[in-house]
Amino acid sequence: MQDINIAKEKIESIGFLDIDIDVNLDLFSEIKRLKKEKNAIILAHYYQEPDIQDVADFIGDSLGLAQEAAKTNADMIVFAGVHFMGETAKILNPTKKVLLPDLKAGCSLSDSAPPALFKQFRDKYPDHIVITYINCSAGMKALSDIICTSSNAQTIIESLPKEQKIIFAPDKNLGAYLNKKTGRNMILWNGACMVHEIFSLEKITKLKIRHPKAKVIAHPECEEAVLSVADYIGSTTGLLNYSKKSDANEFIVVTETGILHQMQKDSPNKIFIPAPPTNNCACNDCPYMKLNTLEKLYLCMEYELPEITMDEQLRVAARKPIERMLAISAQYGL
Ligand code: 13P
Ligand code: SF4
Repeated sequence: MQDINIAKEKIESIGFLDIDIDVNLDLFSEIKRLKKEKNAIILAHYYQEPDIQDVADFIGDSLGLAQEAAKTNADMIVFAGVHFMGETAKILNPTKKVLLPDLKAGCSLSDSAPPALFKQFRDKYPDHIVITYINCSAGMKALSDIICTSSNAQTIIESLPKEQKIIFAPDKNLGAYLNKKTGRNMILWNGACMVHEIFSLEKITKLKIRHPKAKVIAHPECEEAVLSVADYIGSTTGLLNYSKKSDANEFIVVTETGILHQMQKDSPNKIFIPAPPTNNCACNDCPYMKLNTLEKLYLCMEYELPEITMDEQLRVAARKPIERMLAISAQYGL
């Protein structure tokens, strides 16, 4: 067993509490006990490992999680997701203690938009409004006019006058998809998600030949060529709802594999096939989302570390565009 002070000091370099856990400990019941004792809520994204989803109080996509974080009365928000999600919870509900099991759970899409570089880019287009995908840092949010997620991006764009000039950041694939859907000509920042860019059109096409009745369902962070063969495109919640309601029995799922757990739970008699990546790696698993484990979740609740903290001025600046997103979403019933 490591000394707790050494473990705390190590968080800065390794991102999590590295403490030995008794192998006989029932982590499910321990986590449930800690939830009660500490009045904590566990919010989990669909890309988390199945055990974490099963112990969570709320599982959702980025929009659902932000809405839940904004309204919770719990004293402690334990975010089983990636860093920008925990940050968003802290921005919206600053009096709560927000914990992230592993601070190194980042996001390649968020990393593709460093705020200082983006500011130079934005300043070249002073008559443009900046709509930024929620997968970005608090610094990027502070430079934005409205935040969006994959659930509400189209609605948010269409809530603005047709002639309004827009910069869309950081996801070029989602931006290109939205330009096509809305007929706008938004200027796109050149960022992408490493997981959604890796799907192989060739392998999906071959899978489709082997499973002719399967519906291809894809997340809009995928590249245009992959989206062009999809029967349905939507956020993780959108994909889950589609798979539940559809008459089809087979689905080729073109997004991170974590979502298959809820799909299979909701529709036990349907077949869900994860779309393959371009090579034989497990790159359709997000390496950041999968940094969280049940052990890290337990430790972070027990010791209340690592915690998300933020400069207050940055928090206030980042909050405005998220509030605009939540207001537009509420107005349209999202
Ligand atoms: P949604 O949660 O909006 O579906 O986005 C998926 C994603 O990549 C989150 O990191
Ligand atoms: Fe970021 Fe992509 Fe992982 Fe989502 S799946 S957290 S967008 S790297």
